[in-house]
Amino acid sequence: MDGSTTAYKHITVSPIAGSMGAEIQGVDLTALEDEVFDELYDAWLRHHVVVLRDQEITPDQQLAFALRFGEIHYHPYMKGMDDHPEILEIIKEPGDQYTFGSSWHTDQMFNPQPAKATMLYAKETPSCGGDTIFANMHLAYDALSDGMQDMLADVKSWCSGDKFKQGGRPQRKDRYAGNAQMLAKLRDPGNLQTESAHPLFRTHPETGRKALYMGNHVKSLHEFDEAEAEPILDYLRAHSVRPEFTCRVGWRPGTLTIWDNRSVQHFAVADYNERRRMHRITIAGDTPF
Ligand code: SIN
Repeated sequence: MDGSTTAYKHITVSPIAGSMGAEIQGVDLTALEDEVFDELYDAWLRHHVVVLRDQEITPDQQLAFALRFGEIHYHPYMKGMDDHPEILEIIKEPGDQYTFGSSWHTDQMFNPQPAKATMLYAKETPSCGGDTIFANMHLAYDALSDGMQDMLADVKSWCSGDKFKQGGRPQRKDRYAGNAQMLAKLRDPGNLQTESAHPLFRTHPETGRKALYMGNHVKSLHEFDEAEAEPILDYLRAHSVRPEFTCRVGWRPGTLTIWDNRSVQHFAVADYNERRRMHRITIAGDTPF
């Protein structure tokens, strides 16, 4: 698990950090055989973040690959592409002030059934910068003291998709104002549920491993006073992204990365001023326990 390697028949796995993450060689997404996919899926569960380089695929091929992981999860606040509503095109132009995903989070945590996985495919990338950083929430859980694990064992967090006015922070549409193309994709979620309580420590439904379930959508602790919850959450936010839990993925056109939202947080680094264009698909998940 995490940084260790396993021998496979069809694919080669090269870990990218001690904490987690691996580049996988031997996968051609234009002709993906079941045996190769099965190995890739196994490697994904072990390494949490897997990176495939030099893939030349169409939106239809990306969608077909995504569907092997599960059903598509549609973003309640964002419109997909006109001809491929399953794909959210993330674009940042030179001069844009807002970078989508530039805070520590796990996708769709405000949803009662948050996204299982996210698949991001690089179409255009800056000459330098624009990496994505990931943090391993199994390691974050394991590193908590027995006392902290016991105290918070049955506690739920309260997660919200757009409560950014709390604490003086702007709402989603105000934050997106610095990026006209992403602002134009915003949509009203209507009566979709965008607030949820989830276990602070969740169990991975496929591996059985416990993870600290943390991200920027966590606003409070269920049934705690704010004054009690805040110091605990502040500690957990900082603890969860300690450098030794992280790995970093650098992009170039044709790179496709799939991460497991049940075991990692991620953060899009806003350190560039060039065009960056990515095709993102999220896979539907189940109710955290
Ligand atoms: C995201 O948070 O889904 C986007 C990450 C990225 O663009 O690197």
